[in-house]
Amino acid sequence: MPDIAFANGVFLPLAEATVSVEDRGYQFGDGVYELLRVYGGLPLRPLDHLARLERSARALGIALPFDTARWTSVITEAVDRSNYPEAKVYIQVTRGVAPRDHTYSATLVPAVVITVRAMTPPAESLYTDGTDIVTVPDLRWSRCDIKSLNLLANVLAKQQARNAGAFEAVFVRDGFVLEGATSNVMTVHRGSLVTPPEGPLLLSGVTRHLTLQLAREAGISVAERSLTEADLYTAAEVLLTGTTIEILPVGRINGRCIGEGFPGPITKELMARFRKLHA
Ligand code: PDD
Repeated sequence: MPDIAFANGVFLPLAEATVSVEDRGYQFGDGVYELLRVYGGLPLRPLDHLARLERSARALGIALPFDTARWTSVITEAVDRSNYPEAKVYIQVTRGVAPRDHTYSATLVPAVVITVRAMTPPAESLYTDGTDIVTVPDLRWSRCDIKSLNLLANVLAKQQARNAGAFEAVFVRDGFVLEGATSNVMTVHRGSLVTPPEGPLLLSGVTRHLTLQLAREAGISVAERSLTEADLYTAAEVLLTGTTIEILPVGRINGRCIGEGFPGPITKELMARFRKLHA
C-alpha cells in the first residue's frame, strides 16, 4: 500500500479513509496536529513531535487517547505499510464526533487520523539561490504556541505569498516578526543566530530547536530575542526552519535582497549539519 491512513482505529489506503461529518475538527477546527518527516524509513525526532502534540492537546483540554509507546507503534506501522523511505506523517487528533454545538461534553472520545504520504523535498535551487518571502500582518489568535487545526490565517498568508511569487509569508505583529505561516524565522546579525523567543505568539518548532542546538555545537552564538521587520532587512542572513523545508535560506524579502550571495556562511554551515542528522 503506498499512501496510508489510520482512521477509526484501522489502517487502510488513504483514498478509502473517511471521517464523520460531525467530527469537531471538520466543523470547528477543534483539534491539534503534528507533521513529522521520515528519512530512510525513520521519523526524525518523533518524541519531540509527540511531546508537542501532548502539550497542544493539554492546552485545549483534549486527552490524547494513546501513550507514547502506542503512538510510536502506530506511526511505525503506518510508515512501514507505506514503504516510502522519504515520507511525511500527518497526525491529527480532534475532540471527537458530536452533534454540532460550540460547547462540548467531557465524555467525547478524541478521534485520531494519521496519514503517510511520499515526501518530495523543495527544489534544490531554493537552497542554492535563496527563497523569496513576504511580510504580512498577523491576523491569528494569541495562542499560536498551540499547534491547532485552526489554520485559516496561515492558509490565507501562505496563499498571499504564493500569489506574490514568494515561498513563505512571515507574520508581523506590532512591528515584531514572529514566524512564517509554516516555518520559524531566524536571522544572522554580527555573526550571531537570532530568532524570536518562545511564547504564546509563535509555534516553537522542532526544527527551530534542532537548528539552535546545531548552532551551539558549531560554536555559533545564539540569541533568542525579538526581531523587528527592519531587522530583517539589515540582517546578513535570513533563514527559515521547518519540518518539510529543514533550513532554507531567504534571498529576498518583499523583493529586497538580503545579505550577499546565497546561502550565507552560517546558513550553509547549519544546512550541512542538519543534513548530517539524517544522512
Ligand atoms: N508547520 N510555525 C508554524 C506556524 C508552523 O506551522 C510550523 C510547521 C513551524 C515549524 O515547526 P516544525 O519545525 O516543528 O515543523 C513553525 C508544519 C510543517 C505544517 O503545518 O505543515
